[in-house]
Formats: sequence, structure tokens, C-alpha cells
Amino acid sequence: MNIGILISGRGSNMAAIIDAVNRGEIPDSRVAIVISDKPNAAGLIKAAERGVETKVIERLGRSREDHDKEIISVLKDREVDLVCLAGYMRLLSPLFISSFPEKIINIHPSLLPSYPGLNVHERVLEAGEKITGCTVHFVNEELDAGPVILQRKVEVNIGDTPETLSERVLAIEHQAYIEALKIIHRRNILNKQ
Ligand code: GRF
Repeated sequence: MNIGILISGRGSNMAAIIDAVNRGEIPDSRVAIVISDKPNAAGLIKAAERGVETKVIERLGRSREDHDKEIISVLKDREVDLVCLAGYMRLLSPLFISSFPEKIINIHPSLLPSYPGLNVHERVLEAGEKITGCTVHFVNEELDAGPVILQRKVEVNIGDTPETLSERVLAIEHQAYIEALKIIHRRNILNKQ
């Protein structure tokens, strides 16, 4: 799998993916490029430290589709065949989604379909949930709504704040993303047989 990762910020899931690929945990895989729509994304430094090509593609007042066209062309140029969204804070255009059919995945810090969107941990705590978690899913045109690849649960502790909860969920996200990539790799092999 030739993986392209899209980020907007910290890039801890991105780093976990690159490290797992470099450890050989996801067979026949390499991370070809990391693209950020934000020039100051901390993840860009983490990717460069790991020897992965990085590129900033800002929206700069363009339409969503025009912005996506530039990203698609860079991904195609690097022969990317799996796009991983890892804290990428933009909705993809229909053009983007149809350019990589069933080849775009995302991680979200809740047990979807519960709590799509932003400020997830705040809302989970306000609702008094006892269990939360994360979801890795295929991306379609609706926000946080594509078919689920896998979910992992995390218990909510008494006294949790959004920060403490997000820290525990994030640690599980890193494992879940790697598991999901292994599942996709196995699925690709089965599809080829
Ligand atoms: C993660 O919680 C992810 O689930 C969500 O955005 C956050 C990104 O964190 N989509 P990081 O940039 O991977 O550290």
C-alpha cells in the first residue's frame, strides 16, 4: 500500500502510522507523503523527522474542489492508493471521494454514529456516558458517517476532564489506526485472490 496522510495539526496518529510502517507491522506498505493544509501543523516536523516527504497545500480562498484538485494531483503523482485522514480538519469534496473510491479512511474519537463532529469529549462528558472510544471508518460525503472498519472502547472515569479523556482515547486511537490498516491490507490481498 502506498499511503498518503492528510493532517491539519499535531499529527500523533500520523506519527503512529509512520512508526508502525517503519517497524514492518503493516506489510507491503510505505508512507509516500504527508500533506497539511496548515503551514504550522506540528505534524509536519514529526513527518520530516521520520524521513517522509511533506507538502503544505493551503486552501488560500479557493473553492473546496479547486483545493482538493491540487491535493489529488499530488497524491496521484506519488501513486498513493490509500489516503489516511489523521486530524485533517476539512470536509472532502465529492471529486476527492470519487477519485479514491473506498480508499480514504479517517479516525474519529467517539463510537460513531454517536458524537460525530467537533468537541467530542466535552459532549461525551456532559451526557454522562460511561463508555466512549474511537472509530476508524471509510470516508464518504457525509461527515463522520462512512462504513466502520473498527471501533475500540475506552471507559470514562469519574473526574475525567476533556483533556484526561482525550489523552486516554488518543492512545487507543494510535493502536486502532494500525489495526485498521492491517485489516485493509488483508482485505486487499483477499480481493486480489
Ligand atoms: C484525533 O483525536 C482524531 O481522532 C481526530 O483528530 C485528532 C487528531 O489528533 N480526527 P492527531 O493530530 O492525530 O494527534
